[in-house]
Amino acid sequence: MDLPLTIMGFMGSGKSTLGKQIAKKMGVDFTDLDSYIEESTGKSIPSIFKKYGEDDFREIESQCLREVLLKPNQIVATGGGTPCHRNNLELIKTLSTSVYLQVSPEALVKRLLRSKNPRPLIQGKSNDDLLTYVQQKLKKREKYYLEANYIVQSDQIQVEDLLTLIFF
Ligand code: S3P
Repeated sequence: MDLPLTIMGFMGSGKSTLGKQIAKKMGVDFTDLDSYIEESTGKSIPSIFKKYGEDDFREIESQCLREVLLKPNQIVATGGGTPCHRNNLELIKTLSTSVYLQVSPEALVKRLLRSKNPRPLIQGKSNDDLLTYVQQKLKKREKYYLEANYIVQSDQIQVEDLLTLIFF
């Protein structure tokens, strides 16, 4: 492994969980882009959204992505919106090998409702609203995700299978 391996997918698709597992198996570092943003700015993701708005968040996110992708031999979990803004997809495709974790809107909603991770874009939505939101947003975003080098159904994937797919 040389280039970083970038994991992309919708909020709740399991990017960080899978990323950590792969990193552990391969004995390489794991970087969560949202955590990197929080460490760099000293602010939580919700507070960046609240204080500066989504547009400024996307600017910070893009800058941080550029920094993160310079380091080889690591697994990077992006935020759900990362590949869909600025020239991030181009950066991801040029500087890394990429994987899209494809999960159905229904499964995403189930996971998001269980998650304790605060997500400003879905905060306060009722269950029905959330499903509609995920369906619509995923429809807009999937064309970016589908540009990944590898597409895996996150529900079925085992870490070993994914590693075999990518590296062997
Ligand atoms: C976002 C997803 C979040 C985080 C931010 C915006 C998005 O990351 O980057 O709240 O636009 O989908 P996760 O996908 O890790 O929840």
